[in-house]
Amino acid sequence: MFKTEVYKVNSSNFSFRKSTTTDFPEQNATCVLNNENDQAAINKAVDWLKKNEAIGVPTETVYGLAANALNEQAVSKIFAAKNRPQDNPLIVHVSSIEMLKSILPDRKVPEVYLPIIRQHWPGPLTIIVPTSDLIPSSVTCGHPTVAVRFPAHPVARSLIEACGFPLAAPSANSSGKPSPTLASHVYHDLQGRIPMIIDGGPCNVGVESTVLDGLRSPPAILRPGGLTYETLKQSDGMENLQVYRKHFVDKDLEMAPTTPGMKYRHYSPEAMVILIDRKADNDTTANRSFDEKFDHIGMLRTTKDGESEVWESIAKVDDNVECISLQMGRRGHPEEVARGMFKGLRDLDGRSVDLIFVEGIPEDKEGMAVMNRLRKAASKIVEI
Ligand code: TXA
Ligand code: MG
Repeated sequence: MFKTEVYKVNSSNFSFRKSTTTDFPEQNATCVLNNENDQAAINKAVDWLKKNEAIGVPTETVYGLAANALNEQAVSKIFAAKNRPQDNPLIVHVSSIEMLKSILPDRKVPEVYLPIIRQHWPGPLTIIVPTSDLIPSSVTCGHPTVAVRFPAHPVARSLIEACGFPLAAPSANSSGKPSPTLASHVYHDLQGRIPMIIDGGPCNVGVESTVLDGLRSPPAILRPGGLTYETLKQSDGMENLQVYRKHFVDKDLEMAPTTPGMKYRHYSPEAMVILIDRKADNDTTANRSFDEKFDHIGMLRTTKDGESEVWESIAKVDDNVECISLQMGRRGHPEEVARGMFKGLRDLDGRSVDLIFVEGIPEDKEGMAVMNRLRKAASKIVEI
């Protein structure tokens, strides 16, 4: 047991000086930090990480549970703290191209990723690369590849640079729960199990990174995420980009639990979730009845154009049934819904509802990642 300490930092105090000596000036930038309080938090975090402990760290997608990716004992703390199945591999986070090269066989970055890295790193994109002897097999779960990401969040970037070693980090939730987009979500799930959380405020993207396998031909998105399919497809070499399950399925992938959420329950709050998937070309309402009795119902929905943005409302359905309605963001703004979705599920759980109706959104842009998560969180999907 730990007493979990939360250190608040201010992201705007962290800036980055571009490298002048490499051909990746942005990706090999170094952190400049002139704030004592923030520096003390980074130092404390580095201390814990060097002691092979796992701590909560903000990234632009969701909070991560980070530990030294090159140390077996440190990595085992991640699995233990969040109760993660041992066969679900981790993402390794780097803060420079030099660090990426240091973990690759012969320091060689696969050609296919060079334009992608230049355009989209740092950012909400994870790439699959060949693994090397430096990476413990508990990170890759024995697979011949490893997932690597260069986060854009200044605090995560600065922390990895200060450590000098890459950090393995899954989302910092208890396994199976909605991902954390606030430090308080991490505290709720992992308090007492980890020594420290860095509180860098709310995550700007709100859904996890896009997982890209560029070693496949054609390249494929294994998990839709913060970097949209539409954007990625425009990059050099990504003209034939496919999305797993949408454009193809693969028996081998289906067997190995490498593709997120294929095997395990994911993103689920305590309450039962029902996803209302409104097909654009279908406006007949499906009637379903439920055997169970629910007296606290939650609704997670979007705000329509022209509707005032009331973030919370409570209505009595009848004498015994109360309905709490929360907003995730404006319809037509999938990036807002992505930012608000996990928080909405967690907030409704905090209000002890028994059942959550979630409004589905179109699968464009960030909507693809949102609907991927909601389908996995839902026990039932009602198409209307
Ligand atoms: O945004 C994110 O990606 C966050 C932040 C903390 O960086 N991390 C995150 O990690 O979402 P996690 O563990 O919740 O999801 C990582 C997923 C795993 O579920 C796994 O399926 C996939 O990445 N993955 C890891 N290694 C892989 C590999 N070698 N091949 C294919 N998929 C892999
Ligand atoms: Mg996760």
